[in-house]
Amino acid sequence: MNIYSRFAYIYDELMGDFDYENWFNYIEEIFKSYNINPKKVLEMACGTGNLSYYLGKKGYKLTCFDLSEDMLSKAYEKLRKFKNVKLLNQDMVNFKFSESFDAVISICDSINYIVDKEDLIKTFNNVWNHLEEGGIFIFDINSYYKLRYIIGNNTFVEDRDHIFYAWENYFDENTDICEFYLTFFVSEDGENFVRFHEEHRERAYKTEEITAMLQDAGFSRIDYFSAFSFDRPSEKTERINFVAIK
Ligand SMILES: C[S@@+](CC[C@H](N)C(=O)[O-])C[C@H]1O[C@@H](n2cnc3c(N)ncnc32)[C@H](O)[C@@H]1O
Repeated sequence: MNIYSRFAYIYDELMGDFDYENWFNYIEEIFKSYNINPKKVLEMACGTGNLSYYLGKKGYKLTCFDLSEDMLSKAYEKLRKFKNVKLLNQDMVNFKFSESFDAVISICDSINYIVDKEDLIKTFNNVWNHLEEGGIFIFDINSYYKLRYIIGNNTFVEDRDHIFYAWENYFDENTDICEFYLTFFVSEDGENFVRFHEEHRERAYKTEEITAMLQDAGFSRIDYFSAFSFDRPSEKTERINFVAIK
């Protein structure tokens, strides 16, 4: 089953609580704090372009990509006015560009969508190969704690005027994979509802696993923080932000 297909068209509405401008400011604070002044930026799994919009507006020479054509079509609506932004359909695991970048970014737990460890190793190697010497790689994950204890084996239901959805989750302790079963009912007129279903999978990674994979890929300095801060994550941190320097 395709993921982020029909969901793409209501994604922004459901992500209304996420402040992407604040996320963009955090990314720029990271650049500053690592003394890096990137010009060419690659954003992986850009989705509907919410962070890309701020990166484009600020004038970065931005290339962004996603696996879902539907997410990209929503991103195109936001990004087509920027001459400095390129939007492409590629896969994080085996993307290929003939240029390299000063910074590679991926936000909002997109990395957890890579559920095969070998694929994640490939992704990190690939990022390393596409970074300039001294370049920075910034990404966040849903923490192991969040996928195992907050999201895993829990059901969430939301009832809005014209969108109703149920999000049922199962965590498999043998594979560390959390399966999300999403059922949506969406209406244009508030009376007739169309039902559709998507199944997503995110893998829970421990910080030590990710750190080891980044080291193996060749990154020289690796840090991680409780997201939106520069603090050490606690046992119950839900979003962890990694920074790795080539
Ligand atoms: C939670 S969304 C985050 C989107 C966006 N980064 C944001 O902040 O809103 C996860 C995104 O990862 C994309 N994705 C999942 N696996 C991918 C892969 N292997 N390569 C590229 N994109 C992928 C999905 O299509 C989706 O757009």
